[in-house]
Amino acid sequence: MKEKEIKNLLNKMTLEEKIGQMVQVAGDIFLTDDINVETGPLKNLELSNEQLYQVGSILNVMGAERVKKVQDEYLSKSRLKIPLLFMDDVINGYKIAFPIPIAQGCSWSIDVIKKIAEISAMESNIAGANVNFSPMVDLSRDARWGRVMESIGGEDPYLGQVYGKAIVETYQGKDLKKLGNVASTVKHIAAYGAAEAGRDYNTVDMSEREFRQYYLPAYKAAIEANAEMVMTSFNILNGIPATINRWLIQDLLRKELGFKGIVISDYGAIEETIIHGISEDEKHAALNAINAGVDIDMMSRIYANYLKDLCLESKEIEEKVNESVLRILNLKNKLGLFENPYGNSNIEKEKTYIMSKENLEETKKLVEETFVLLKNKDNILPLNANKKIALIGPYADNTAITGSWSMFSDRKKNTTILEALKRKVKDENLLYSKGTEILRIEEINRILKADGLQTLENKNEKEEEKQMLQQAKNIAKESDIILLALGEHYRQSGEACSRSNIGLPKNQIKLIEELHKLGKPIIMILFNGRPLELSSVERKLDGILEVWFPGTMGAEAIIDVLLGNTNPSGKLTMSFPQNVGQCPIYYNHYNTGRPHNYEGRYLSRYQDIPTKSFYPFGYGLSYSKFEYRNLKLDKTKIKEDEKIKVSFEVENKSDYEGYEIVQMYIKDLFGSVVRPVKELKDFKKIYFKKHEIKKIDFEITLDMLKFWNEKLNFQAEKGEFKVYVGGNSTEVLEEKFVLE
Ligand code: GLC
Repeated sequence: MKEKEIKNLLNKMTLEEKIGQMVQVAGDIFLTDDINVETGPLKNLELSNEQLYQVGSILNVMGAERVKKVQDEYLSKSRLKIPLLFMDDVINGYKIAFPIPIAQGCSWSIDVIKKIAEISAMESNIAGANVNFSPMVDLSRDARWGRVMESIGGEDPYLGQVYGKAIVETYQGKDLKKLGNVASTVKHIAAYGAAEAGRDYNTVDMSEREFRQYYLPAYKAAIEANAEMVMTSFNILNGIPATINRWLIQDLLRKELGFKGIVISDYGAIEETIIHGISEDEKHAALNAINAGVDIDMMSRIYANYLKDLCLESKEIEEKVNESVLRILNLKNKLGLFENPYGNSNIEKEKTYIMSKENLEETKKLVEETFVLLKNKDNILPLNANKKIALIGPYADNTAITGSWSMFSDRKKNTTILEALKRKVKDENLLYSKGTEILRIEEINRILKADGLQTLENKNEKEEEKQMLQQAKNIAKESDIILLALGEHYRQSGEACSRSNIGLPKNQIKLIEELHKLGKPIIMILFNGRPLELSSVERKLDGILEVWFPGTMGAEAIIDVLLGNTNPSGKLTMSFPQNVGQCPIYYNHYNTGRPHNYEGRYLSRYQDIPTKSFYPFGYGLSYSKFEYRNLKLDKTKIKEDEKIKVSFEVENKSDYEGYEIVQMYIKDLFGSVVRPVKELKDFKKIYFKKHEIKKIDFEITLDMLKFWNEKLNFQAEKGEFKVYVGGNSTEVLEEKFVLE
């Protein structure tokens, strides 16, 4: 449709029809089949049938046939035949479940991130998605928060920027009508990851400078990449819920960043402003939201039931409604829905593209780059396939290795580690025993009950646990090496999954301790959605491979890495704490006036644990051994219009070829406000042949030295700086330079 025709359509719409476009409901309201997904407190919105058939968009209905069925039924009752928008939580894949976003971020590969986004967008677009609710770029520093699993950039603003931009550009391409392109939604604006105490939906309060320095950059990069939509977050930001925060939406997003796309609330968040205690009632909530500039009310009845009265009382409000509806109609038009209401959904293509062999093989390679080798004592890895392996643990023969947002993917179809290992080693060299459950019944039932699911019966747990442990010890005694597949339950991370204890479950720790007594080397394969507390078990383990929730091709990828067919290369994007008492912990912290750089009393430290993280940001081992040397700067003094060339050598001192992620950090030694001890400014993922030496170059630009100063100006200040290069954020070479 031409722009003029869109405006004409708007003029034909009744007030009720306009308001309907600003309402989004979950799919189950239209469909009663059993594959609806629940992503928030399901409730009856008590919308009239007329209101229902005027809504503008629908949440999480996928599958070409289902989309067509809903669209046909909806349009049959729509006076002006304005098609529904289908918006979906394709967070890390549709039918192919990719590694959870925090794992993807550990690849430090834009190519990996883009390829995953490309396959996810194509699969979901063929299945009827017009809009994906992704990327989630919330800066995440607190491992107690369950949604760190969704954070593509982890604790680093720079990673969040480069990854968020890459996903938006890959999702949207140049033309939203084109097959495989979906509109992206950057979320959750804003600073949702800073929820106090890591408790989901909790208070966020910070200085504007802190917000601009750390939390805003990733949202800004995604908006500058032309994200079509943003989603507001559940939390308050400095006293006002983000969803009705006029400074955030009007002043920052619309005016300062020039965002012209659609603002959608998170699930029920407009109605929740009453519970926050800032909207006095539902009508006040509607007024607050429309004045803040929310275009779509996701899963609440507020707009549907109260916007009309507000419009009749105020021409200004009706004008705002017209602006919102125009934005929504324009997106539908960009997607070509007026010409083809089914979008690119295609039953035939679903059969050939989704879960295709080619994509699954490509996916395995992508997954391998997300793993982080945390420990490899005496080079116990890669595994010698001729040794007798005891595969033990609740994840050894378990298909549930996809994250909690992989609700469209059929977990039962996944290969398990046991099945994948059987294909690679002789039967006589492979022994298996479960060893223990993921969680004890009391713990899993607490989760299932909160999720409204059937709880498990506790038949004779103690006896069963004893028997499973004994069986595990029996096979371990016969083996040369123990592979221990452990970790969190996938329902322990994701939305509303905050935890006050981030250690391994007690029954799993007991299994480690008992097996350790046998004196056999133990390699742990760790499944988790957040940094965990490993300090109490690490010394009992010889190898640790962090695999997060690796998705559909996870098992095959794990075996290929363990056997050395692929050299692990991932690096952490979130620091692992010594224990939960350190949370939030992050590498780009301030120095304090009493840094714990030496032993003493009056220092910023804990009495009972080391002050540094257990595993630092940017850390990850390889089967290769990389040595960094000869850091040189082509000049040590620059003016504002100059750059510095940083060069150094890296040698692969091993017989293993593989990737190394070289990282460059900068520290501003003095500023008008305190500056972090270091900040990631660039990185490269470089392939090394065995014993290969490479000269690596980076460039230091003025932009890298800028920060939000006391007066909230974004600028660099003259003075001394340090540049660091290395394979993680702590083992680095350093040089000084001056900005004159
Ligand atoms: C949820 C999540 C959000 C998701 C939305 C739709 O509450 O916070 O990330 O996209 O609702 O399911």
